[in-house]
Amino acid sequence: MRIVKEKVLKALRETDEYVSGQMLCEQLKVSRTAVWKAIRQLKEEGYDIDSVNNRGYRLRRVPDVMSAAEILSQLETDWMGRPLVYLDIVDSTNEYAKELAKKEYVHGTVVVGDHQSAGKGRLGRGWSSPKGCAVYISYLLKPDILPAHASMLTIVAALSTSRAIEEITGCDCQIKWPNDIVMDGKKVCGILTEMSADMDCIHYVVTGIGVNVNMTSFDESIKDTATSLRLQTGNIISRSKLILSMLSYFEKDYAVFIKTEDLSGLLEDYNKRLVNRGRQVRIVERKQEWKAVARQINKAGELEVETEDGQIKYIVSGEVSVRGIYGYV
Ligand code: BTN
Repeated sequence: MRIVKEKVLKALRETDEYVSGQMLCEQLKVSRTAVWKAIRQLKEEGYDIDSVNNRGYRLRRVPDVMSAAEILSQLETDWMGRPLVYLDIVDSTNEYAKELAKKEYVHGTVVVGDHQSAGKGRLGRGWSSPKGCAVYISYLLKPDILPAHASMLTIVAALSTSRAIEEITGCDCQIKWPNDIVMDGKKVCGILTEMSADMDCIHYVVTGIGVNVNMTSFDESIKDTATSLRLQTGNIISRSKLILSMLSYFEKDYAVFIKTEDLSGLLEDYNKRLVNRGRQVRIVERKQEWKAVARQINKAGELEVETEDGQIKYIVSGEVSVRGIYGYV
């Protein structure tokens, strides 16, 4: 049934005219009842479909519907999101993707959730995951690269997600190294990459991305540092369109990365967006904290900083956290 729905949606999307039920049956090689059921389900999901006797069906408006059919009927990637697993509710899309990895799901499998009951953030924190207003997505990757290079995938994901946010909103965004995306100094997206590997071989990598899309308020604990695309633009943003753009940019940026197994081909675009570039930051290590000026990232994804006495140092992600002098950025 899901496939029929996807195909009906695709056919309706291709024209502004009415499409007759008969034509849909013939084109899709399914029964009249199957078409009718697909239309009914699409309406239940929020699609504004006009049905007129003797003329057929016409798609009037697509609101912020996020569903497998909405995404798959427009997906143009070669391998990203093939397959795509969509869940109304899930504990964590990262946990779900890890289970799929063990069941031999392929490189490029994507898990999307509308709501997470136990969303995970970095450093053992949680990720607030209300229903219906955000993107919670995990990419299952099986790259043939050294385990030590896997953290660069987080950088690839941050860059491709920034490009997608910019395309969909028309607004610039910045990256807080290594992987927070910020707008107007506040966090709009976080990324959590997890890996299963031996010493010299990756079994799988799961890169999970949470984007605050249409929320207008936040939990007390993050309200001063978080924002959403809606708050930034004043518009309701289509989560499906954002996902389609994220998958397509990730596929392209991944191809650039995998050619050299480093970030040399992506550095310029990443560094352009580096929020703290040329600014003083605090480097917070486990036992000490020091100040430096952030310069750029190098092709290994390390942050180059200049210390107060003029030395150049390279910061490795995961070992320290980098903060602004006065707050989050
Ligand atoms: C961070 O702490 O900044 C990282 C947040 C990552 C959240 C995303 S939402 C989709 C995926 N599933 C999870 O449980 N976490 C990641």
